[in-house]
Amino acid sequence: MAAAAAAGLILYAAVVVVSGTVSAVSSSRAQSPPNRLLARGRQIFRYDTFGDQAFWGGALQLHRAIAGKANGGVGSGLSPKAALATGLKVDATKIPRSVAAAIKAGKVNLNDPKVTLSLLRLNAVVGVRGFFQRNRLASVGITCAVCHSTVDNSFAPGIGRRRDGWPNRDLNVGAIIQLAPNKKPITDLLKVDEGTVNKVLSAWGPGKFDAELFLDGKGFQPDGKTAATLIPAAFGLAGVNLHTYTGWGSVPYWNSFVANLEMHGIGNFDDDRLNDARKFPVAARAGFAHVRHKRDLVTSKLPALHLYQLSLPIPRGRTDRAASKRGKVLFDGKARCSNCHMPPAFSDAGWNLHDPAEICTDSFQANRSPTSRYRTTPLRGIVAKIKGGFYHDGRFKTLRTVVDHYNTCLKLGLSGSQKSDLVAYVRGL
Ligand code: HEC
Ligand code: HEC
Repeated sequence: MAAAAAAGLILYAAVVVVSGTVSAVSSSRAQSPPNRLLARGRQIFRYDTFGDQAFWGGALQLHRAIAGKANGGVGSGLSPKAALATGLKVDATKIPRSVAAAIKAGKVNLNDPKVTLSLLRLNAVVGVRGFFQRNRLASVGITCAVCHSTVDNSFAPGIGRRRDGWPNRDLNVGAIIQLAPNKKPITDLLKVDEGTVNKVLSAWGPGKFDAELFLDGKGFQPDGKTAATLIPAAFGLAGVNLHTYTGWGSVPYWNSFVANLEMHGIGNFDDDRLNDARKFPVAARAGFAHVRHKRDLVTSKLPALHLYQLSLPIPRGRTDRAASKRGKVLFDGKARCSNCHMPPAFSDAGWNLHDPAEICTDSFQANRSPTSRYRTTPLRGIVAKIKGGFYHDGRFKTLRTVVDHYNTCLKLGLSGSQKSDLVAYVRGL
């Protein structure tokens, strides 16, 4: 175990050096307890399903749709090409050199679901675990990495080295769930028909997931747009008080929430607020306020997972340095951004929730949370969050339109060049 952890750390250090970022980890300290915990956290973040294969494979039968009829499943199967098209990523470091050469030479049929099965056997599909019995795919589970990691595309588009913590804004979670041969567990929970479930899932689109759907059953905003939110970064959270777009709780709280209620892992979970049948009719009915299992595959993993998330390196975007310098003065001064986005975490220095009216926005998503407020999004590493847009639902397509919004909302009176300077500063955070 210790040897495995040390090997993991050396690999981690190597990856960190390759990606050119700075980390507190050095291999010489690999045996000290915090680093062992860190390595364990990384293992959990990347590979642990918390037993959720009982849901994704066992209940939804997703593995059968992945395998396809030719490989003991149903339908045409999920080819590597189709998997990449849904935004799933492949960890190139798991592909043996000979196989990599064959792929490069065009000798691997990327339209054959059998190849997807090989990738799953190599544990190369980021955030998706295949469970094999003899030669058959017997189940499938997901990990945190499926939504909160991408790759650097160094081998090919969608194939490369892992970037843990980056939100996967290509991932079409709704399309993947729709592949499931058995949607009864979902239609039973939500008490709607399959057509309705499919309509909701199709509306999500790439980079989005709805963590509140299984609590309140709301598929759409009042204007008809999807109720799903953008997948956020899992890096840049150290020193931030409340988490999620609407401040549900701390990192360990939310990690437990997700592992139990969203991934459907096997663990224990408590949150009395989910007994509020007015706000959370689905959760109250299903008893999500208190979940108990004989075996708890979640709770003991929370400390390591927490530590790992807080240690994730934050990418830094390229930006015009002179403009950025002028932008910082505006951010901390005339534009009043740091009233809420306080450096270094760029969320409030303390209680970090705001009424929707303070940022001139609607209350729909805020009201789907016990807080009825929005949390000030930590801004560092924004370069990894550009795809899909800004604010919880991506309503602003560019940083410039975010700044335009604040300019109107807070009556800032910024000139065109001041707006550009602010954008330059935020882009480089
Ligand atoms: C199916 C996609 C998906 C999976 C799997 C997933 N998440 Fe998330 N995660 C999201 C979305 C979407 C949100 C935003 C939820 C919200 O604000 O309502 C989120 C929010 C978060 C946040 C809050 C970020 C912030 O800015 O405060 C953390 C931390 C987090 N997830 C960690 C995890 C961990 C750890 C796991 C594994 C146990 C995990 N997530 C699994 C999609 C996912
Ligand atoms: C009153 C507090 C407050 C002030 C002042 C404020 N923000 Fe925000 N900011 C928020 C909140 C809350 C959100 C989350 C909104 C959402 O997700 O719907 C946010 C979101 C953002 C986002 C989107 C981040 C993402 O990943 O989606 C950006 C960018 C941003 N703010 C930049 C700024 C800039 C630039 C200024 C100054 C012109 C500013 N903010 C002023 C509270 C504030």
